[in-house]
Amino acid sequence: MSQYSAVTGWGMCVPERVLTNADLEKMVETTDEWITSRTGIKQRHIATPGETASTLAISAARQALERAGIEGTDLGLIIVATVCADYPFPSTANLVQHALGAQCGAFDLQAACSGFLYGLSTAHQFIATGSIQHALIIGVEVLSRIIDYEDRGTCVLFGDGAGAVVLSASAEPGGLLGFTLGSDGAKPELLWLPVGGSAEPITEEVLRQRRQYVRMQGNEVFKFATRIMGTAMEEALDKAGMTTAEMDLFIPHQANLRIIEVASKRLNLPPEKVFVNIENYGNTSAAAIPIALCEAVEQGRVFPGAHIGMVAFGAGLTWAAAVVKWTAVTVAPSDHATDAQHEAVSATHAGS
Ligand code: UT7
Repeated sequence: MSQYSAVTGWGMCVPERVLTNADLEKMVETTDEWITSRTGIKQRHIATPGETASTLAISAARQALERAGIEGTDLGLIIVATVCADYPFPSTANLVQHALGAQCGAFDLQAACSGFLYGLSTAHQFIATGSIQHALIIGVEVLSRIIDYEDRGTCVLFGDGAGAVVLSASAEPGGLLGFTLGSDGAKPELLWLPVGGSAEPITEEVLRQRRQYVRMQGNEVFKFATRIMGTAMEEALDKAGMTTAEMDLFIPHQANLRIIEVASKRLNLPPEKVFVNIENYGNTSAAAIPIALCEAVEQGRVFPGAHIGMVAFGAGLTWAAAVVKWTAVTVAPSDHATDAQHEAVSATHAGS
């Protein structure tokens, strides 16, 4: 049996603590002017010690479940896309499953910044085949734990946060209409964390050389991103049987405003069809698209029947694009996870 899969719930959670460009000026040799003009970023949210991938994910997930009007026990699958899991194992998805009281399969998925769209299209398969009714897909990162705050080439770019959606079976035509996934592992060193895996453990020597952090060849990634964003989006639109002009809202990965501008121009999209929030969050990797989707809904930029195009690229290299026809009834704006909620989640997790 083939069914449609609709987004029925959405939620987000970012740490309260903010790191501004002015703060970074005191930490590395950089300026607000450089960061703003080269990236579009003004600030990013940074986790405090009690905040982890799972605590942020659980807060975002609870909002998404509430909006979908379902309980954790209704879920048939949980996917967490992250490169910042609480632990190498077990998965962060396991921790989320327990906190939500869900009784279903749960796993982490690793496709770097493309992870959320990889998760969305994976969950869609389970729904389209009739295996499950509801899936929870979360993109979450606590990149501040693996960023070198002495490396100005990376530390100005990244932030922490989580975004979640509930994808539900629906008889109404719509939901995920088309997607494309891509991978090219020829040059992992373009953006990677080279140690701490089975290739090289973390040793005192590694720590002395400060190699326990993310390393990136920014220029090369920039060129790849500007090449792939437009192509991938067009491929997903093609699979959905749509043209670029039929897209009502474009939600690109929030990595660099200049990359977004190149992609939008290539797709011939006017600024009012392009969603940008990079100035407030920086690049939150797998969390960027679900956070942006959540804000787009809250800002009334998503309406029933709207066609939303989403595209991401990231370490691997990986890329992914998806087209979603919005069928959910939009709700009045509500606050993001409050401090109290978030503290409660941290406490639950700490005690579990
Ligand atoms: O999710 C995927 C994650 N990664 C990305 O999306 C990264 C894509 N790449 C980029 O966004 C850009 O390449 C960066 C923002 C990382 C760098 O911007 P750029 O315009 O490509 O700068 P650049 O690397 O060519 O460096 C230009 C200059 C260099 O100085 P010199 O050699 O010309 O003297 C850098 O050392 O800017 C210098 N620079 C900085 N200056 C002030 C690099 N980072 C900084 C900084 N502040 N933070």
